[in-house]
Parts: sequence; C-alpha cells; structure tokens
Amino acid sequence: MIARKDDSVRIPSIAGLDIAVLMGGVSVERDVSLHTGEQVVSALNGSGAAATALDTADLGFIDALRHNRFDAVFICLHGRLGEDGTVQGLLELLGLPYVGSGVLASALAMDKVMSKQLFEMHGLRTAEHVVLRRDVPVDVQDITAALGPKTVVKPAGEGSAVGVSIVHDPSELPAAVAGAFQHDRIVLVERFVAGTEVTVGVLGNDEPFALPTLEIVPDHEFYDYESKYTPGMSRHIIPARVSSESRDECSSLALDAHRVLGCRGMSRADTIVAEDGAVYLLEVNTIPGMTATSLLPDAARAAGIEFPDLCALLVGYALEDRRKN
Ligand SMILES: Nc1ncnc2c1ncn2[C@@H]1O[C@H](COP(=O)(O)OP(=O)(O)O)[C@@H](O)[C@H]1O
Ligand SMILES: [Mg+2]
Repeated sequence: MIARKDDSVRIPSIAGLDIAVLMGGVSVERDVSLHTGEQVVSALNGSGAAATALDTADLGFIDALRHNRFDAVFICLHGRLGEDGTVQGLLELLGLPYVGSGVLASALAMDKVMSKQLFEMHGLRTAEHVVLRRDVPVDVQDITAALGPKTVVKPAGEGSAVGVSIVHDPSELPAAVAGAFQHDRIVLVERFVAGTEVTVGVLGNDEPFALPTLEIVPDHEFYDYESKYTPGMSRHIIPARVSSESRDECSSLALDAHRVLGCRGMSRADTIVAEDGAVYLLEVNTIPGMTATSLLPDAARAAGIEFPDLCALLVGYALEDRRKN
C-alpha cells in the first residue's frame, strides 16, 4: 500500500507539545545526526510544538529529560549509542514516549549479523555471507570459494557505510577485513550483488505501510559515506527504475523486515535489485537520515507527506505506542 495523505494517513496535531530532540552524540555519524536534529527541530516548531535540542555527547541531557516534562522524545541519533537500543532503554526507564523502534528491534537492526539470521529464518532473501571474528585468521580461499571473487566487507554494527569496502579481487580481502575490524569485533563478508540499489521507507506501528520505492544512483562505485552526505553526489529516483514486480518485491521485503525485527514508527530497508530482477535485502535502518532531503523524507514527499507532516506523524506514532518492550 502506498500512503496518500488524503486517504490512509491522518497527520496528528502536535501543537503545544513539548518535544525533546536528541542529536549529535558520540558515534561516527555525529555530524549527520546534528543535521537531522536541526531540521527536525525546525519542522516540529513550525507545526506549533516546542522542540528542545539536546546533544547527547553531554550526559547532562539525562537530567534535562528527567526534570522537564517532555511529552515525547524525537531521537535523531544514528549508529552506536543512539540507534542501537541504548538510548531507547534509557527512555523506557524514564517512562518517556519516543519516536521509532524499541530496545530489541533497534539492537537487532543495528547488528547486521543478527538481523541477517532473522531475515534468513523468515525466508527473506539476503546476499550470501561469511561471518568473521577478530581472533580467527581469514581464509581467503574459503571465502572466495563460498562467495565468489567480488565481495563487500562490512563491520557488523556500524552505519553510513563506515568501514564498508568493495573487494574486486581476493587479494584485496585481507586489507578490507582489517579495515572493517577497526570498527567492530565482528565483520561480515557478503557476495557482491550487481544491480540497482533501492531503498524503501516504512511508516506505522501495528499496520505499517511502505513508501514509494526510491532508487539511489551514487556518483561513486557504491553508496559510500561521501555519496550519502555530499549534496549532488547521488541522485534519488522515485519510483525506482525496475520492473513493477521487483518494486512490489522491494516493498514487501521492507514490510516483512520491519515486522520480523519488530520495528515501530519507521524504518528504511536498503535493497539491491539484481540484474535478473531478484531482490536482496541489505539492511534495515531504524533511525534513517531525517533531513528534508534524506531518502525516507524524499519518499514520503512523493507519497504526499511533506517533511513537517512526516515529523508530526512520527510523534503521533510515538504517543500511540507508549510502551514498546
Ligand atoms: N552485497 C552487496 N552487494 C553490492 N553492494 C553492496 C552490498 N552490500 C552493501 N553494498 C553497498 O554498500 C552500501 C552500504 O551497505 P549497507 O549494508 O547498506 O550498510 P550501511 O549503509 O549501514 O553502511 C550500500 O548502500 C551499497 O551501495
Ligand atoms: Mg545502508
């Protein structure tokens, strides 16, 4: 189902609500988070709410959350100590409603190995992979035999393509793996899937719906950190230029992934439509980039939901869903 503002989506009024916006923090995605946070603050204020920005790099934010009577918390933190269930656990303890997924879904989505195991268990197609641990030597021959010569190496628990590299030839594998181990104790090597990169936003609690498919065309070889965050270094095409069957499969994979992980409020699934039309699920982001020109807000706009309304909708889902765990 595609959301249309006039039929399936009712935008709640958030006028008069006091909302804390958590941003910044200490992850490698701090700068991205600050951009997201600033734009969310101005969107919420524009809808008549009173938004207070809190930078979680300073633990004083915990006192601010305890002593101000916020109606809801909008978490604009990406990566570790923000998107991974930790801040969500704190907010559960404080009894504050918050935007997005709860502790378990956040932690599962953040861990690419755990989430892949769940996806496979539920029959969702993902690229074949090998899991590496820091203390076990890398057997390049075994990996190449299992996955083929072209692979993608990624740390299990980072985001924004940090530590991700494409390996074109097995000889590049050891260096790529060593690089990824700088970010995590567990590293994933995946078969490289050639095709069209499509991301699908999902909104809602008990009856989630998929936003239109969005094709990402990066200037670089893949959607790396620079392509993600430098304006003009990637193009968004809505709907994705793949067959309507593949588009439907992207949407249902994104919805299934949202449900399998137990996501709430919003998520964004990254997929690749292979040259034969088969769709592979790469990962789920529980706090996707939320600047007005980010992927999920762009897809929402194509469905008739402008950025300020999207922010209000997410606050509405948070209030409807006070206890997530
Ligand atoms: N198996 C794969 N085949 C081809 N490209 C991939 C594959 N996995 C990741 N990529 C590329 O790397 C980017 C980052 O990978 P992703 O799994 O989405 O992690 P994250 O966005 O958290 O860093 C993707 O957007 C895509 O461009
Ligand atoms: Mg991604």
